[in-house]
Amino acid sequence: MCGIFGYCNYLVERDRRFIVDTLLNGLARLEYRGYDSAGMSVDGDGDHDMAIYKEVGKVAALRSLIDSQSINFKKTFVSHCGMAHTRWATHGEPSPINSHPQRSDTNNEFTLIHNGIITNFKEIKAFLLTKNFVFETDTDTEVVAKLTKYLYDLQKDITFTDLVRAVVKKIEGGFSFIFKSIHYPDELVATRRGSPLLVGVKTEQKLKIDFIDVEFSGGETASSNDLFRSSPETGFDEIAGNPTVSSQLNRSASRAFLSEDGLPQPIEYFIASDASAIVEHTKRVLYLEDDDIAHIGNGELHIHRLRRENDSSPISRTIETLEIELAEIMKGSFDHFMQKEIYEQPESVVNTMRGRVNFEDHKITLGGLRGFLPTIRRARRIIFIACGTSYHSCLATRAIFEELTEIPTQMELASDFLDRLAPVFRDDVCVFVSQSGETADTILAMRYCLKRSALGVGITNTVGSTISRETHCGVHINAGAEVGVASTKAYTSQYIALVMMALQLSEDHVSTIERRNEIIDGLYHLPGNIKEVLDTAPALQQLSKETLSNEKSLLIMGRGYQNATCLEGALKIKEISYMHSEGILAGELKHGPLALVDENMPVIMIMTQDSIYPKAQSALCQVASRKGQPIIICNTGDENFVHEYKTISVPQTTDCLQGIINIIPLQLLAYYLALLKGQDVDFPRNLAKSVTVE
Ligand code: F6R
Repeated sequence: MCGIFGYCNYLVERDRRFIVDTLLNGLARLEYRGYDSAGMSVDGDGDHDMAIYKEVGKVAALRSLIDSQSINFKKTFVSHCGMAHTRWATHGEPSPINSHPQRSDTNNEFTLIHNGIITNFKEIKAFLLTKNFVFETDTDTEVVAKLTKYLYDLQKDITFTDLVRAVVKKIEGGFSFIFKSIHYPDELVATRRGSPLLVGVKTEQKLKIDFIDVEFSGGETASSNDLFRSSPETGFDEIAGNPTVSSQLNRSASRAFLSEDGLPQPIEYFIASDASAIVEHTKRVLYLEDDDIAHIGNGELHIHRLRRENDSSPISRTIETLEIELAEIMKGSFDHFMQKEIYEQPESVVNTMRGRVNFEDHKITLGGLRGFLPTIRRARRIIFIACGTSYHSCLATRAIFEELTEIPTQMELASDFLDRLAPVFRDDVCVFVSQSGETADTILAMRYCLKRSALGVGITNTVGSTISRETHCGVHINAGAEVGVASTKAYTSQYIALVMMALQLSEDHVSTIERRNEIIDGLYHLPGNIKEVLDTAPALQQLSKETLSNEKSLLIMGRGYQNATCLEGALKIKEISYMHSEGILAGELKHGPLALVDENMPVIMIMTQDSIYPKAQSALCQVASRKGQPIIICNTGDENFVHEYKTISVPQTTDCLQGIINIIPLQLLAYYLALLKGQDVDFPRNLAKSVTVE
């Protein structure tokens, strides 16, 4: 999705070069969220002058555009606020005009950057057209910029915060925004509903407080129709009230960052869609909640809330310390983030297990579930809810979950679950699995389940993410920042986290002790097993070049535990190499997909040894008798295939963990195929890392 970055310096002298570079570097860190186009707005040379730069393509293109302009980069600013955006198009094709910042008018009175979708933009646009606003783009965001100006023109002495509050009350959908205006120099206002946003704070001095009390406004709720008196024709006709929405602010409750002695202090603020753009500047951050409105001005940060009625969210935001390190979001010696993340897996799986698995006593301790285990064990059913790769990790572990816990375990794709408005009960345990913790479909499904009083368990890789904050309990997978759009190390770590959860839930089942011990021993050997597969990378590169790179399609077949591996492998291949690839449950072969098989159709079959190995062999016979020439993924030492087929050998482990090892060669094949086809591995077309829109 789109990436948002804002930077304010106060009493810290910075030249324009520094400001522009800080914004561009912040964008580069967020580029994996969207890379159709990029833009920024900073102060111009005049007193009321805002400069906007926008370019199609990656951040590097915007950098070149800015460097090619005759700009006075040496001009210094003691206080300044700027903002920048990297876009993943939803409304309107990628083009300079559709890029953000979007503006209210040709004087750039108001500019804003946005991540999300405004669902009622057509109604607002229709209203604004009646007010003679002229639109220059197809975006939903431009409508909000023009609405801001419209409301400002009604009452010019309004504060920036109150203006944004009035705007937000009119709009529906999901968003995070930063607003900048020539009418409020050196101020930024940021707000969110459904899309992540955090504020980094950097100062040399000790902060007087380490939290901010949230400022409520009296009795307000977010709704879109109270400001406009509706008319039968437009639905939005005349202004019915005062844009300040007559809030009686409880100002005494608001705090800001001030030095010990209460005097203004030099300070810098960074606002971003995720921590990766902030960590190189500061590790002290505040996560904004939905309907927070954060105002930065005069070196102070104030947070206001839009809603009060029935608002049970905490009334202060604490400063937290980021746990990620800068090195985690750098490529180091690797060519691509995806490659780096594939190679990190021997280490990332250890990090997932660290402090949680006692290999000597065969004990699992997941601190994040402490206190909730009895409730989970009593559940009527467990529902795994996720999207994409995260869904595959659920599918991969469902069988062992059911086997060990003996609790019926259901699988749900978040979007479909919501489309169906599926029944959820108070004795259900809903497990939300998400690398980012910010996927809109999964978040909406989570809120849907929490509303129905189910217990919510979050399995995420992102500390501080919406899912980790809003669920009752959960497990952080600790795989480290994942930047490559194609998820790799998060998959194997999610897989392990879910297996550990099943192991812990079943720790009091005497009958499963042996099985549990076998799995825990298997976990111990996993890092070494993964390393062994990574060592075969040159052979896999060769195989992709000689056998697969000129093909148009690829089928990946397996059954049992390997069904998920097939789906996940096929997803990796299609998303980064753009080669059509389908994961097929081998048990279903004869019910349809076998029709695709002939001597020309490339097929990979997963034939690692477990209890259904004989059944997998019968699927191989079905393919072979249609002249198929599959590549076989088999266990090292299995001589059954080597004479007849090309093989990929992987070490053997216990059945329910074998999928962690089997996915590695498929990740590598996907990577090499993408390289051979000349694709942009870390930035596959049309995709974004964190899907924060429905
Ligand atoms: C594929 C991929 C996606 C994500 C999906 C869910 O490689 O990364 O399918 O798995 O968008 O994202 P999270 O896990 O962040 O909820």
